[in-house]
This record gives sequence, C-alpha cells and structure tokens, in this order.
Amino acid sequence: MRRSGLMEALAAIASAIALLADVTAASAGDARIGRASAPLCAGCHGQQGEGRVLGPDVVPSISCQHEIYLVRSMRSYKTGERKDKVMNEIFSRLSDEDIDNLAAYYAELKRCF
Ligand code: HEC
Repeated sequence: MRRSGLMEALAAIASAIALLADVTAASAGDARIGRASAPLCAGCHGQQGEGRVLGPDVVPSISCQHEIYLVRSMRSYKTGERKDKVMNEIFSRLSDEDIDNLAAYYAELKRCF
C-alpha cells in the first residue's frame, strides 16, 4: 500500500527533529567568549541585538531568539544555503565555534524588542 501524504509528512517531521537534535548536541557555545565578538555585530544589530532599520535594510533582532535557531541561521549563512551578501561574507570568516559562542551570547540576552 502506498504511504499516505500524512505519513510522509510525519516521516519528514521526524527526520527534521532528528536533525535539530544534532544541532543541539553540537552547539555548546560559551556566552562570555561570544560577547567579545559582539562588537562586530552591534553596528548593524544594535548594542543589545535589538535590530534596526539601516537605510534600505531592515536588520532583524537577534536577541530573544532561541540559541538553536541562531546557530542554524548563522551556519546557513556560512554555507551560503541562506543568502544575504553581508551575512554570507561575515560568517564565511567565522568558525563554527565562533558561531556557537555568538549564539550562546545573544540567546542569553533574552530581551525582546
Ligand atoms: C553590515 C550589517 C550587519 C552586520 C555587521 C551583521 N549583520 Fe546580521 N544581519 C544583517 C541583515 C541585513 C540581516 C537580514 C539578512 C536576511 O534578510 O537574511 C541579518 C541577519 C542576521 C541573522 C538572522 C536573524 C533571523 O531572524 O533569522 C543573524 C542570526 C545574524 N544576522 C547575526 C549576526 C551576528 C552574530 C553578527 C556579528 C558577527 C552580525 N549578524 C553582523 C546585517 C548585519
């Protein structure tokens, strides 16, 4: 019998959750080290990661986001899977460890704007 669309969707969700678990296991950033690199980001994202409108660009808030989501978005800029000229350039120069540390720092700010 052919698998139903629902079964396929559930299987896709299950493998997505497994992927997410991998990221959780792999990311154990140090917020104190991340804080030291934060000035690199503050010019656009603001001193507290609050985000801002910068000319034609809307820079998103990066505080008040889940650490895993931050790691995933930064890694996808690094690999080029997610495209943005500036973010691709910056993250191509940062290591996975730098990314984990920055994610830990911004996730810890927990201040929503
Ligand atoms: C020159 C300005 C600029 C600098 C510097 C900059 N960013 Fe960004 N950032 C942006 C813009 C613009 C976007 C939105 C890009 C898009 O549409 O994908 C963005 C997106 C992001 C996102 C995705 C947010 C989301 O909600 O998905 C993260 C995470 C991020 N930046 C982290 C950082 C970190 C960490 C640094 C410092 C290492 C940094 N950025 C430096 C302008 C900047």
